[in-house]
Amino acid sequence: MASSEANQEIPSNGTTKKQIVLNGFDMFTVGHLSFGQWRNPTDRAKDKRRDLSYWTDLAKLLEKGGFLSLFLADTYGVYDTYKGSPEPAIRTGSQWPMADPVIPVSAMAAVTKRLGFAVTTSTSYEQPYVVAKRFSTLDHLTKGRFGWNIVTSWKESASRAVGLPYVEHDKRYEIADEYLRVLYKLWEGSWSDTALLEDAESGVYTDYKQVRSIHHHGEKFRVDAPHIVDPSPQRTPVLFQAGTSPAGIKFGATHAEGIFVSGLSPHILAPRVKAIREAAAAAGRDPASIKVFAMITPIIGADADDARRKYEDALRYVLVEGGLAQFSATTGVDVSRFDLDRELTEHDISAIARVHSAVGNLRYQGDDVPRLTPRNLGVVSAIGGMGAMPVGTAAEVADELERWIDVADIDGFNLGYVVTPGSFEDAVNYLVPELRRRGRYPPEIPDHGADGLPSTPTFREQIYGKGQVHLRADHPGFRYKYDTYEDAIAQEELARSAKNNAETIT
Ligand SMILES: Cc1cc2nc3c(=O)[nH]c(=O)nc-3n(C[C@H](O)[C@H](O)[C@H](O)COP(=O)(O)O)c2cc1C
Repeated sequence: MASSEANQEIPSNGTTKKQIVLNGFDMFTVGHLSFGQWRNPTDRAKDKRRDLSYWTDLAKLLEKGGFLSLFLADTYGVYDTYKGSPEPAIRTGSQWPMADPVIPVSAMAAVTKRLGFAVTTSTSYEQPYVVAKRFSTLDHLTKGRFGWNIVTSWKESASRAVGLPYVEHDKRYEIADEYLRVLYKLWEGSWSDTALLEDAESGVYTDYKQVRSIHHHGEKFRVDAPHIVDPSPQRTPVLFQAGTSPAGIKFGATHAEGIFVSGLSPHILAPRVKAIREAAAAAGRDPASIKVFAMITPIIGADADDARRKYEDALRYVLVEGGLAQFSATTGVDVSRFDLDRELTEHDISAIARVHSAVGNLRYQGDDVPRLTPRNLGVVSAIGGMGAMPVGTAAEVADELERWIDVADIDGFNLGYVVTPGSFEDAVNYLVPELRRRGRYPPEIPDHGADGLPSTPTFREQIYGKGQVHLRADHPGFRYKYDTYEDAIAQEELARSAKNNAETIT
């Protein structure tokens, strides 16, 4: 928790109420999940590409509100399923244009002390060695506040854009697993903690004997090199992931420290969260150590009328086709083929394997979601992108967040925006004080001035408590540490030969 003075682990039970953790959710694009709001005069999304102060102001605001992190989505390619064309997405600004989210992170780090940065990067387009270098650099420059949202990339338009073959769903997770193991070798196993001597007298900057070349000769990747950056504060950044298919859950339960889920109702999420925690336990990890965050886009007013007015204002600027472009692409269902008021059937949504979570969301038919007609989907997905969008006072929204926490067994939320930074300001000014009053949110940290804080916790410490700078002992990356590296490699070899034998026998 960004503002926990004592850096306690996020409490999950016990005498104190379970804390609600908030992350800001954004993307380096004009239309992230509320499509058409670039027409709203109060929206600053247009400034993202033109004015670095958009990012530095946002980071300062979220830190002031005690947010754990700013979570940045990313993607390649364009949405082209709706009407079988990229035209609607390009015309409406539906996650288009899309700039690189890694670039503003150093600027934001320079104006904050505690806020974490969870940035999305795909395992499908760049070699792990290249990404290892970039993330170590960012973890150094943020003083250990860097996190990575691992995605495998599901868009065929992205594969065409980068000129690589499209890889099917489960295979992408298999490749991502190998990718992560290469990274653990580089981040955890290549440098000893004492390799950087910086000894002016002897002229030894780095002790050659304490830097290991890693030799990874895997199915997909091959690396023969030492890591090119000395160990950053966290070594491995905090690992996030967002996939809830069986393969996605297996991957997340193995590697992720935080998992990002989305659905219109907490009842949709509850079985997924249960499955994630069970899979983590089966992988030998503490299920509570995986922090689960749900996407939600609240519209909060000073009072009920103010909230309603903001919602109605947002509706005036909605570009429904922007929402449908995103919805059709993530589900694989081109809703332009259907009558606007015909409810989607099981037949319509079966046999598609893009974003399983999105497809799974369509199967839920509780009272708390609208009838799934293209017309309703257009509006729902055009504000908040098919995530929940409670409208009301801080007290009403806090009630809703508490309900989600209880029903779905989650740890917090990625708060999306309708207009930025207005929606985030409402969260900081109205929601955070309300959650504090309820004992659901850590107290404000006194401002000690620019250098007044005795020490600033790393991203991972803010999640797991003071001292937990590096991967926990029950995380698979822990085995690749410099001192135990040889054992980890031996075990990896054993596992590989067992797998090969099993494949030969079947
Ligand atoms: C809440 C949520 C957020 C996601 N954010 C991104 C993203 O920023 N970039 C991306 O390429 N994929 C994103 N995805 C897609 C996932 O990384 C994953 O590819 C997709 O969910 C397919 O995996 P699954 O079938 O296991 O759910 C997101 C998915 C969910 C559910």
